[in-house]
Amino acid sequence: MINKLIAATLPHMPKKLVWLFSKRYIAGETIEDAVNASKKLNAEGIKVTVDLLGEFIKDLSQATENKEAYLNIIETFESNKIDGNYSVKPTFFGLLIDEEICYENIRTIVAKAAEYNNFVRVDMEDSPCVDKEIKIFRRLKAEFPNNVGLVVQAYLKRTQSDLENMMNMQNGTSNLNYRLCKGIYVEPKEIAFKRYEEINSNYLKNLEFLLENKVFPGIATHDKNLVGPAMELIEKHKVSKDMYEFQMLYGVTPELRKSILKKGHNMRVYVPFGKDWFGYSTRRLKENPKMASLIMRPLKK
Ligand code: FDA
Repeated sequence: MINKLIAATLPHMPKKLVWLFSKRYIAGETIEDAVNASKKLNAEGIKVTVDLLGEFIKDLSQATENKEAYLNIIETFESNKIDGNYSVKPTFFGLLIDEEICYENIRTIVAKAAEYNNFVRVDMEDSPCVDKEIKIFRRLKAEFPNNVGLVVQAYLKRTQSDLENMMNMQNGTSNLNYRLCKGIYVEPKEIAFKRYEEINSNYLKNLEFLLENKVFPGIATHDKNLVGPAMELIEKHKVSKDMYEFQMLYGVTPELRKSILKKGHNMRVYVPFGKDWFGYSTRRLKENPKMASLIMRPLKK
């Protein structure tokens, strides 16, 4: 209901007004903003993963520009000695236009990160992208075993079998590394769990599978009802601190983030920046339980 209300309202609101609500979720528009936000998080003992905003491009020339922008981000972040890694959305590099060109673009970015012994995570987008993104991840993992990871979505019914199928990539010298999130896109009920309880139950099933199999999970959630049980699973399987981390989005539930850090767990924050903030931040606004009333308030005046 709230999501529908916000989805209907946001496109008709002036962009400047949407920005007022959105800015807490975005580090800023420039690379300097992203570096500054990351330095502040690092100073609190939090690692970052940086993301240049944008997705679902229409023209391959944009893919080349986006690749160049990421290469510049890597150089800038490394020279500023930021404790962080990089996240990429394949549709930002042309996944739905030309898979091979998309792969080459992302490969160049991973190769650059690998020069610094660093790491690139392939974000997971909506369901038509899943097979293609797993394929890209498999190819990259074969060439850069320690420099690439993937996101998996607990709301997808297929995820548990994807995790099992991908175990053949794990070997003694290189562990698999996934970010486990609930999933943000609107998917049909035939392929995705819809109820909160079902999604959470699958999340914990996926997480336990990862912990049992010595796969590194980025436990990406702001849901207290998952954080507590995740900590219990970590204890149950005696997982050492260097074999998992919690992850959260910039600007979301900072109090919960602090409480997790206080308990001594590692934390990484996803730091998005760039001019193309509308799509990303409207997804965040739709997830924010208080947003409907905030959005309606200025309209009532
Ligand atoms: P849930 O949505 O149930 O929220 C739990 C509670 O958190 C809410 O009740 C509220 O209190 C708080 N909360 C959540 N969002 C909020 C907001 N925007 N503002 C204020 N409060 C909020 N998805 C995807 O499909 N592909 C991807 O690659 C990624 N990548 C990714 C990286 C990282 C680091 C994170 C944390 C998340 C993602 N996601 C993602 C998004 C993810 O799938 C999911 O949509 C959000 O994390 C929200 O789900 P929660 O697990 O937080 O639970």
